[in-house]
Amino acid sequence: MASLSSSNSAYLLLFVVIGSSILAASAGDLKKDLEITWGDGRAKMLNNGELLTLSLDKASGSGFESRNTFMYGQIDMQLKLVAGNSAGTVTAYYLSSKGSDWDEIDFEFLGNLSGDPYILHTNVFSQGKGNREQQFHLWFDPTADFHTYSILWNPKNIIFSVDGTPIRKFKNLESNGIPYLKDKPMRIHSSLWNGDDWATRGGLVKTDWSKAPFTASYRNFKANACVIASSGSSSCASKSQPSNSWFNQELDSNGEKRMKSVQKKFMIYNYCTDAKRFPKGFPKECNMS
Ligand SMILES: *[C@@H]1O[C@H](CO)[C@@H](O)[C@H](O)[C@H]1NC(C)=O
Repeated sequence: MASLSSSNSAYLLLFVVIGSSILAASAGDLKKDLEITWGDGRAKMLNNGELLTLSLDKASGSGFESRNTFMYGQIDMQLKLVAGNSAGTVTAYYLSSKGSDWDEIDFEFLGNLSGDPYILHTNVFSQGKGNREQQFHLWFDPTADFHTYSILWNPKNIIFSVDGTPIRKFKNLESNGIPYLKDKPMRIHSSLWNGDDWATRGGLVKTDWSKAPFTASYRNFKANACVIASSGSSSCASKSQPSNSWFNQELDSNGEKRMKSVQKKFMIYNYCTDAKRFPKGFPKECNMS
C-alpha cells in the first residue's frame, strides 16, 4: 500500500494532463475479474464463471473481491438476492479502499420476512468517515430475478443506479471542504453474512436458521474503469483513449428528475433529514446538491 499512497497525488494530475480514460471492460467470465476470498466452499463459481453464488449458514457467510483495484469507474453487476424468508441476512456489495482513513461506496441489501420488502441501504465514506446513510425500498422484488446495480464514480460525482435509474448522487464538493473520494484506489467487495442484530426492523426479526443455507447470485460484472497496477500506475494514464463519457458524466436534468422522483417514492431514510441525529445542524453536503 505504501507505493500506492505515495503516488496518489499523481493520479489526478495524469487525468488532467491526458484527459482520457477507459479500460478493463469485461463481461461473461467472472473468474477473470473476481476472486472468492472467504467462506470455506460456500461461495461458488458456476457455469464456467457465468454465475457466482454466495451462501450463508449458521457457521459462516462467504464473500468475494475484484482482482483489480480501481481509481474511478462505471461498475455494473447483476444481483439476485436471497429469496423467501431472508430476515437477518445482509448482502453487502461495495467499493472500498484499505487503511484507517479509507474510502467506501456501499450498497447493502437487508433481507426481510417472505413478502416484506428488502431495504437497499447506501452509504459513502470519505477518509474513514461515513454517516451518510440513505435507504430505499425497491420498486420490484429483488429476489425474483437479476437486477443491475451500478456505481458511477468519477472526479465529479458518485451516482448509484438501479436498473439504470439513478437513486443517489454524492457530488464532489471538495471546494466546500467536504473530502471527496479521489486518491484511494478501491476494490469491489461482496459478502453475505448474518446481521440479525440490526438488519431487519432494526434487529427485531432474527434469522431463521431452519431456512439456511441462504443464497445470493451474481452475474454480468462489468467494469469500465481505470485499473491501478501494484506499481501505482493507472491504466487510464498509460493508454491514450478518446475521452469517454463515464469519466465526465453527471446527471442531466432528466436524470435529476428521475432520481428525485424515485427518492420521493422509495427513499425511507435520509441522514440529511434526520434532525434528531444532527441536533447541531446537518452535515454540510446536505445543504448543497
Ligand atoms: C421489512 O418489512 C417491514 C414491514 O413492511 C418494513 O418496515 C421494513 O422496511 C422491511 N425491511 C427491513 C430490512 O426491515
